[in-house]
Amino acid sequence: MARIIRIFDTTLRDGEQSPGASMNIEEKVLVAKQLARLRVDIIEAGFAYSSPGDFEAVRRIGQEVEGPIVCSLARARVEDIDRAWEALKGAPRPRIHTFLSTSDIHLKYQFRMTRDEALKRAVEMVRHARGYVDDVEFSPMDATRSDLAYLCEVVEAVIEAGATTVNIPDTVGYTTPQEFGHIIQTLRTTVRGCDRAILSVHCHNDLGLAVANSLAAVLAGAGQVECTINGIGERAGNASLEEIVMGLRTRADFYQADTNIQTEEISKTSRLVSKITGMVVQPNKAIVGANAFAHTSGIHQDGLLKEKRTYEIMRPESIGLTQSRLVLGKLSGRHAFREQLAKLGYSLSDEEINAAFDRFKRLADQKKEMFEEDLEAIVSETATRVPERYTLKSLQVQSGLRQVPTATVELDVNGQVMKETGTGDGPVDAVYRTIAAITKTKSRLLAYAVKAITGGTDAQGEVSVRLEQDDEIVTGNGADTDIIVASAQAYLNALNKLALQLERRAQEGKKIQTC
Ligand code: KIV
Ligand code: ZN
Repeated sequence: MARIIRIFDTTLRDGEQSPGASMNIEEKVLVAKQLARLRVDIIEAGFAYSSPGDFEAVRRIGQEVEGPIVCSLARARVEDIDRAWEALKGAPRPRIHTFLSTSDIHLKYQFRMTRDEALKRAVEMVRHARGYVDDVEFSPMDATRSDLAYLCEVVEAVIEAGATTVNIPDTVGYTTPQEFGHIIQTLRTTVRGCDRAILSVHCHNDLGLAVANSLAAVLAGAGQVECTINGIGERAGNASLEEIVMGLRTRADFYQADTNIQTEEISKTSRLVSKITGMVVQPNKAIVGANAFAHTSGIHQDGLLKEKRTYEIMRPESIGLTQSRLVLGKLSGRHAFREQLAKLGYSLSDEEINAAFDRFKRLADQKKEMFEEDLEAIVSETATRVPERYTLKSLQVQSGLRQVPTATVELDVNGQVMKETGTGDGPVDAVYRTIAAITKTKSRLLAYAVKAITGGTDAQGEVSVRLEQDDEIVTGNGADTDIIVASAQAYLNALNKLALQLERRAQEGKKIQTC
């Protein structure tokens, strides 16, 4: 029988450390609910001590998301662990994850501690966390650059102190599959009491080996893998959840291991994370890239037509890629709408259903047929709305061959209606310049991307923009059958988020980052 490997998702903590991938609380709750539908075993919801926003995200996810264990990161410090517990105490299945470096290079230059001091602190902090919860994870940070004998000593001591999971991080993405397999094997065979804890791994992708290293660790006996959706994370990212899960599922014959993941939810989860973080998935990315299942070579297509298995090692359906399904039409009512959302796995409050239904009706006037993806876009738009300082009241654009693109934009700015006309190099540029003039924003546009949500010329265009101001980076989204309107909505959504984020920062100070 295949061993079940636990999937610990850290998209909301390590993933969020990707430059520009920060998410607000509503967005984190939405992603966490989708992670629960994906059936991850553990959600690392944030680092409660690092900021009031992270604290609130951990607290809300712990209370609102059913199924997975919910975890908060905490440095090996009393105040961090106390704060993690504060955030988690309402969660049915809480975990505290505490960490301290074990490599000499970190201990000497960053922590200014001796090996003995670090070991003592790790033990004390695991005991302290066990005073609050039965489920405590300890990570010896930079484990792969640590002296192996010392690493074994620390792992043994923290298990003795009550750690139920010990996670071995390749913090700087330095190790290789063979070396990492050897480290895990050594820990398993030499550390006394190792079988009382789950051995976990957490790999970064600096040399492109995060997934290979994680799978080598599974072969060597690791029972938990830490990973993120689309592999997002600090620098080159973390091991990608979808690659690990599909690797194990597709090659179960080799790994003799599987996970609890509902793989049909993978594609949807990937789209949601990409949309919310603004981190575009490269087209040739394994499993979730747009080309991952596209066969263009004539010889391959010929083989596929004769027998799918000639060139297809996974079925697109197994990650939830199906033909866009028509689910509702122009005349569908509130009841059918609510039922369809429930079928797609969304449970919304009455207030959210009302807002989403209004959006659905407006869209249904423009578009005859509604596909699953349209409903997904409506739900994420509704659930992640931020208080609006700027609202679009009206928009008119003139452009065409040998015409100067001109936009007239009317905005509600904090309750005051303001209207201006401006020009630009193209219709979107004209709209953006005019909005910038009205709002007097100091932000810089870092990225603009547009894609069609479904096929057909009446498809909704989904626009995502990234803005930066004073080191805060936000992503805004907008969807509409008119891509100029979608572009304006996305820009305003980003400006509203930026205003909120800058306000929060002024009140709370800057968030503490981990590693
Ligand atoms: O990469 C790392 O070492 C981490 C730890 C906090 C687990 O993210
Ligand atoms: Zn990490």
